[in-house]
This record gives sequence, C-alpha cells and structure tokens, in this order.
Amino acid sequence: MDTLNKNQILNFIKESDVKKSLHRFLVPEIDIFDCVNSTNDVCMRYAKNHIYDIKNNTNNIYVAISESQSSGRGRLGRSFFSPSGTGIYMSILLRKSMLNPLFNNKLHALTPVTALCLSEAIEKTLITKLSNKMKPKIKWVNDIYMNNHKVAGILTELYSPISDSSISTGEPYIIIGIGINVYEPIEGFPDDIRNKAGSILKKTEENFRNKLISNIFCEISKSLLTGKTDIKTADTQLANFVLEYKKRCFVLGKNVTFNLHGVNEMARAVDINQDFELIVQSPDGEFNSLNCGDVIILS
Ligand code: BTN
Repeated sequence: MDTLNKNQILNFIKESDVKKSLHRFLVPEIDIFDCVNSTNDVCMRYAKNHIYDIKNNTNNIYVAISESQSSGRGRLGRSFFSPSGTGIYMSILLRKSMLNPLFNNKLHALTPVTALCLSEAIEKTLITKLSNKMKPKIKWVNDIYMNNHKVAGILTELYSPISDSSISTGEPYIIIGIGINVYEPIEGFPDDIRNKAGSILKKTEENFRNKLISNIFCEISKSLLTGKTDIKTADTQLANFVLEYKKRCFVLGKNVTFNLHGVNEMARAVDINQDFELIVQSPDGEFNSLNCGDVIILS
C-alpha cells in the first residue's frame, strides 16, 4: 500500500537535509483530498478565502494534494488524466514576494526551473533503483520523461489583482500544479495517451508518494524560494539553472516540428537561451527562438 499521508510528508520534510541547509525554511500547510476538480482550483479558492493572511504578510505556503481529479487540467487547454491511487496531483500556492528575487522580472523561468526541481526530486526518491536509461529527462518546456514516456507535467498559473478583481491581495500569486504518474493505472492509460504516457514505478512501494512529495517540496523551496540573492548573483544563479536544464533536456540536437504564427514548421533544436527559450534552426539556416507552445520530436 502507498497511502498519501500528511504527517508522513511533514516528517520527511522535517528530516530533510535541504531544511537544515536553508536560511529561511517554511513548513507548508497541507490538505489531502480524495477527489477534487483540480488542485489548482483548490489553491485559487484558498487564495480568495485567505485574503486576510496574505495581506498580513504571513509566510504560509499552501499545498493541495488529491488522490484523484475529475477535471485535471494540462497546458494548452488539454486535460490531465488523474485516476485514483496511482498518481500525485498537487498544487503549491505561493505569493510573488516569497520567490527568490532572481525571478522578479523572470516569472517565465518558474516553470522550467520547477521541471528541474521535479526531475531532481524523482531522481532522489528513486536513488537506489535508478539506471542511467531511467534518469528523468525534460522535454522542453516542462514535461518529465523516463524511458521515453511522459511521467509528469507542470501547469503554472499566475494571478494578479489586475486580472482577477475579486482578489485584493495587492500582490500577484502563483499556483504551481504538478501531475505525476507514479504507478500504471490498473485499467491502463486511455487510448489517446497510451503510446506517450508512462509511470515511474512498476510495483507499489510503501510511502513512495509521501517521500516524493516531500522531496519535491524541498527542491522547490531550495530553488524557487531561498531569498538571499542580490542582483549580481541572480544572473549567475539563473545561468546555472539553464545549464542544469540543458543537461536534462533531451530535445536538443533533435529534429522537431512546431507551430509558429499558425504555420507548421520543421527545424533542428540547437540550444536553450537564458530565458529558457528553445533555439531552433530551420533547413535554410534561419534561427528562431520559441517561448511557448510545444514541439514534436521527429528524430
Ligand atoms: C501538462 O502536462 O500539460 C501539465 C499537467 C499538470 C497537471 C497538474 S495535476 C495537479 C494540478 N491540477 C491540475 O488540474 N493540473 C495540475
């Protein structure tokens, strides 16, 4: 059995090395549900109902986790298959002021850096079982792959008081939604994702999901929240994230197709720049930088 358990998660967080090494470490408030529409929506409701806390600058991080989701959302308007008992569906609610200042005018870097955190957390949790082939890799921009199959995705949503007038926090907040296929669903993956989706483990392991959740939280605290960066070191830190990201990104060097201004194009993925844009070179030698959307890998 691998049952989601709040106390176990909090205990693993308390024991973690990351906690000891962090100057300022925040213990999250966690809710675990059986089924919700979407944990991102739970976080949004929480933000709306806790305006008072947020206004008063309390440093609470709220985490919503569910055993299943009835309307799990993915990027680009897609849905995210969220059956019961086999995955992790969690969302983390953060106020913008909690973020490492290096993200101040680089909010677009949050999702790729979270992808890095997620792959590192999976790798740490699997530590003894991991062969090189199985190492978590990133498909630009934020899908995690193992063994050529997608095992996790990230949906980051930013809300600002301007775009949502019902929230008067005076400060934008961010919801980072993470969906992971930990085990293969008993009935298998649905037809439309069967060839693409995979899972991290074949057999159930006690406490695996609780450990993984705590490792994700610790990696995110370390990379997104530590707040001692000054403007001089921000660029270096970001460059290090880009470097680590490139090591994990298996799209580089591959031929890809993508949609640019409504037209399907083919090109070779050659680099990732400091804004986490994918640099592609078309057959006629022209370079383009992609900052959103998706690519399909050809070879
Ligand atoms: C993607 O692969 O396109 C992103 C998937 C993100 C899914 C997670 S599951 C938890 C959170 N709640 C949602 O409705 N979506 C995110």
